[in-house]
Amino acid sequence: RHILLINGPNLNLLGSREPQIYGSTTLHDIEQAAQTQASSLGLRLTTFQSNHEGAIIDRIHQAAGFSPSPPPGAAITTEADPGVGEEKVSAIIINPGAYTHTSVGIRDALLGTSIPFVEVHVSNVHAREAFRHHSYLSDKAVAVICGLGPFGYSAALEFVGRHMKF
Ligand code: DQA
Repeated sequence: RHILLINGPNLNLLGSREPQIYGSTTLHDIEQAAQTQASSLGLRLTTFQSNHEGAIIDRIHQAAGFSPSPPPGAAITTEADPGVGEEKVSAIIINPGAYTHTSVGIRDALLGTSIPFVEVHVSNVHAREAFRHHSYLSDKAVAVICGLGPFGYSAALEFVGRHMKF
């Protein structure tokens, strides 16, 4: 099975960003540990981080085999998309960062592709500012994990690999 791990804006700063909230583990550490764990679970894992909402939406579409429409005037080519032939993604693990609290677009991309997803937050968003208490994704997520620190990613992967029915 192919699993996609998406991290949204500012998560590239993990390890140095507000360490009292997010700890000292870097995103690189998290992604490396996830790769090791994925291979022991017999999963193929692709990792992706972006600070751009549209890039995250495009990546979700690509995971379902859709590509963004070409810019107007672009030559029509018969070349296969790079995504074509790639094994489709069975599940997404996503930490959408601040887009959690703002993005109808990411919600719609996940719903539009029907790829089941687990939402992860490093911090306990419910113990923080009120604007972090609402998520545009949680009511559609298979599961939501928050406040477990970097272990949240590991818990999500274990769940997807061992317990999720596809
Ligand atoms: C976060 C929580 C969000 O509120 C915040 O904007 C982030 C990270 C977390 O992992 O705890 O960027 O998703």
